Amino acid sequence: MVSLILAAGMSTRMKSKYPKVIHPLCGKPMILWVLEAVLGVASRVCVIVGHQAEMVKEVLPSDVNVAYQKEQLGTAHAVMSAKDAIDPEDDVLILYGDMPLVRKETLERIIEAHHSDDYDVTIVSVDMIDPTGYGRIIKDVSGRFVKIVEELDASEEEKKTKEVNTGVYVFRGKKLLEVLPKVSCENQKKEYYLTDAVGLLERVNVYKAESYEDFSGINNRIQLAEVERIQRKRILEKFMLEGVTIVDPLTTYIDANVKIGRDTVIYPMSFIEGETIIGEDCVIGPMTRIVNCVIESQVSVTRSECVGAHIMSNVSVGPFSRLREGTVLHQNVKVGNFVEVKNSKIGANTKAQHLTYLGDSQIGENVNVGAGTITCNFDGKRKNQTVIEDEVFIGSNTALVAPVRVKKGSFVAAGSTITQDVPEWSLAIARAKQENKLGWVLRKKQKEES
Ligand code: UD1
Ligand code: CA
Repeated sequence: MVSLILAAGMSTRMKSKYPKVIHPLCGKPMILWVLEAVLGVASRVCVIVGHQAEMVKEVLPSDVNVAYQKEQLGTAHAVMSAKDAIDPEDDVLILYGDMPLVRKETLERIIEAHHSDDYDVTIVSVDMIDPTGYGRIIKDVSGRFVKIVEELDASEEEKKTKEVNTGVYVFRGKKLLEVLPKVSCENQKKEYYLTDAVGLLERVNVYKAESYEDFSGINNRIQLAEVERIQRKRILEKFMLEGVTIVDPLTTYIDANVKIGRDTVIYPMSFIEGETIIGEDCVIGPMTRIVNCVIESQVSVTRSECVGAHIMSNVSVGPFSRLREGTVLHQNVKVGNFVEVKNSKIGANTKAQHLTYLGDSQIGENVNVGAGTITCNFDGKRKNQTVIEDEVFIGSNTALVAPVRVKKGSFVAAGSTITQDVPEWSLAIARAKQENKLGWVLRKKQKEES
């Protein structure tokens, strides 16, 4: 099976600077959803690009065949521009790049119907309550297919037909190549219609689909949101059937490529995006956003934002933590409220529970990072590294001016500003010495009263 995906059109109604088919749905460009379904049934695929071709090509895998339709003169013209991809000895599946809900299983059923007899073409139709805008399937009194007529070319009588063309076809390659050159552009839009190619064939099979869902096209952002909602629901249902608990599917957003292990629980208002991988028995959310993270098992992340982090097992993050790119948290780490971590590795059993910034740092195992600790990693020009070795205790409200190293087992007194390395097993105090002025307040009061 060869497949052609039409994606050359203008998509004016999206009011976008970008081609319609690259707009993402659940984190994946629209056309890649179609491509994935098609690759389940076709051995060769050719995507027909035209308008903003380069941008479309950029999102396609490099091994996907592309044909270029210079001017968009209609759906038959689009297919004609990919005629080299059509094998006369093979079937051709044709569909659009803007129907991302189409599934492999649905395509399989269509192909099966096509093979059930010696058909020249199988077209896919569906009954629509409101068929406005679609090509109508016209049949004779005995129910035999006559033609597809586009809305603009349809008579008042024909417009009453509720059965419409979804735009998905399976042609016999040889037959398609025969009729394509015969298609004219004598219609209201002066376009070469693929639907006319169907009208020129003898053995036409109309496969009526039960529901329109899989063939829903996206023309504007309202439809984009509706289709995304359905796609999201499908993703969540797949996870739930695989053993992931999703407490509130209505407020949970999980991207297409995310992987989640069994018995993980996702609480409401959670966003899990990109290439994130989450292990088993984790608790995510509520109100959490996770992007491109690797999270191992038994991890809890609550009311937090994590981007590009690697979180190992038994770690607890949040509430209100922010993990940025390059964060690695080893087993049993605890990162608490208002703690930001960037490009830092934190060793096993270490805790940074309150109001802290750890940037460009290497932190060992069993370290206690006190409330309000700041790694001063930026000197105005460069980012510098802070190293805190195993078993260190950093007192609250410490500023570590990088580059600096706090060596194994040492103790930094609260309120210190550390600008020099601290030797092993030592105490560092770097703050003004406290002075108590006895009776000072009373003397002040007396002065004010006199
Ligand atoms: C088409 C069908 C109509 C069907 C409807 C279903 C034709 C003539 N009509 O109408 O029967 O009910 O789809 O959605 O086929 N494209 C190109 N190059 C072109 C023209 C179009 O690549 O020169 C692509 C577009 O990017 C789009 C798709 O083909 O993704 C459909 O084209 P469009 O002009 O929107 O067809 P419809 O009027 O929707
Ligand atoms: Ca359309």
